[in-house]
Amino acid sequence: MSRQPHDEQALDADDAILAFDDVSMRYGRGPETLKDLTFSLEPGSFHFLTGASGAGKSSLLKLIYLAAKPSKGLMHLFGQDVSTVPPKQQPMLRRRIGVVFQEFRLLDHMSAFDNVALPLRIAGRKPDSYRQDVAELLAWVGLRSRMHAMPATLAGGEKQRLAIARAVVNRPDILLADEPTGNVDHEMGLRILRLFVELNRLGTTVLIATHDQDLVARSGKPVLHLEDGRLTQLGPIGGAS
Ligand SMILES: Nc1ncnc2c1ncn2[C@@H]1O[C@H](COP(=O)(O)OP(=O)(O)OP(=O)(O)O)[C@@H](O)[C@H]1O
Ligand SMILES: [Mg+2]
Repeated sequence: MSRQPHDEQALDADDAILAFDDVSMRYGRGPETLKDLTFSLEPGSFHFLTGASGAGKSSLLKLIYLAAKPSKGLMHLFGQDVSTVPPKQQPMLRRRIGVVFQEFRLLDHMSAFDNVALPLRIAGRKPDSYRQDVAELLAWVGLRSRMHAMPATLAGGEKQRLAIARAVVNRPDILLADEPTGNVDHEMGLRILRLFVELNRLGTTVLIATHDQDLVARSGKPVLHLEDGRLTQLGPIGGAS
């Protein structure tokens, strides 16, 4: 659906948090993994990104968090054409994006608290200035009593919630999550969904890649659907909100 998507929804690149205009992406000299994507995300919106394994969900997220580059087309992030952002300024853009990775990427030698505090330490904040914020955030994701635990001792759903806390501790403008309920049971999936909904209510734009159709249907949120690297659907599916 290269050019036609929803002109009435298309925003000026300046207004959207994220705007793709006919973007394709390939790994090395391989075939195009993502093909002719045109869509935009409004500030404060909440979308799921669905599609079969290999459809390109993680690759699309990589483009957005600047770990990969388009091979074609224009990508605007926070109103800026990313192809014109000098490499030195990319970390500044990147800091406005929170990412929950498919495989968590927690640091095993640090406690839960230190994993969450790390982005703040890197940003130059002193422990006295963030201790309470980090503790409150860990309580918010239900890990108050596990604050000093090492990641290896946490259950799957606890690791997932720790990864979410770390992704949002810098108060990003957009939160990307890759299969955040992939390794947890139904109940924990709903609990995690509630965290995302709450964050979204506080103003964070949310994009979640998932296979979990039940979660999508329950949320009532709109869907970007990828099929073999192409966007094939934009809009709500499934049940009520
Ligand atoms: N680093 C890479 N180098 C080369 N090809 C890659 C790389 N990462 C992904 N691919 C290919 O790109 C395509 C899309 O992969 P991607 O990981 O984006 O899919 P996905 O929708 O996230 O799948 P899943 O649901 O299994 O996580 C696949 O054909 C995959 O083999
Ligand atoms: Mg993936």
